[in-house]
Amino acid sequence: MNKKKNIVVLTSGGGTNLQALIDAEKRNELGNGKITCVIASKEDAYALVRAQNNNIKTRTLIRKDYNDVNQYTEDMLKLLLEEKADVIVYAGFMTILGDAVCDAFPNKMVNVHPALIPSFCGKGYYGLKVHEEALKKGVKVSGATVHFVTNECDGGPIILQKAVEVKDEDTPETLQRRIMEQAEWKILPKAVQLLCDDKILVKNGITYIL
Ligand code: GAR
Repeated sequence: MNKKKNIVVLTSGGGTNLQALIDAEKRNELGNGKITCVIASKEDAYALVRAQNNNIKTRTLIRKDYNDVNQYTEDMLKLLLEEKADVIVYAGFMTILGDAVCDAFPNKMVNVHPALIPSFCGKGYYGLKVHEEALKKGVKVSGATVHFVTNECDGGPIILQKAVEVKDEDTPETLQRRIMEQAEWKILPKAVQLLCDDKILVKNGITYIL
């Protein structure tokens, strides 16, 4: 067996998707990957506690300390290289990084987005806002998408998607929770496993699972 790939998880908040990844690793469901570091963009991200509880190295790179996204991107790139990241997972990471990071890790970075891309995605669509907009539009299904991170916000090749029913009585919070439980926490670890096992082929912007 090859040396396991170093998975570095980027996060900004509660970290339930990080927890899903940690739990998947415990069940041996991350294939040839191992979570080696969690980097948070906020000091008080609960994701940091989840990582520490599981003896995973944590680092912080605080977004609000920077005026300039390019400097933030450069410092993030340094951290990722220091951590010898093979696979990078955006798990509730709320910062759009500059091109330098995407360019350094082509088809090695994945993001989980809480809607069925190309709906309710792109700049400004993050966290609860996505579910507010889905309810405003009155969609009957929403869901989650895991995709490669490219220089286009939420525009990289789609790896996995899962649809989730929207109910008449949903609030943004109840819809968010159902999408996390039924979609995000399942398809994110699965996509990471596929990536760590070199099972994803990307051709002309389309992915194929080998
Ligand atoms: C998740 O729903 C994730 O899909 C979303 O934020 C939440 C983070 O929750 N991410 C985005 O909106 C990114 N555009 P978590 O911290 O509990 O994983």
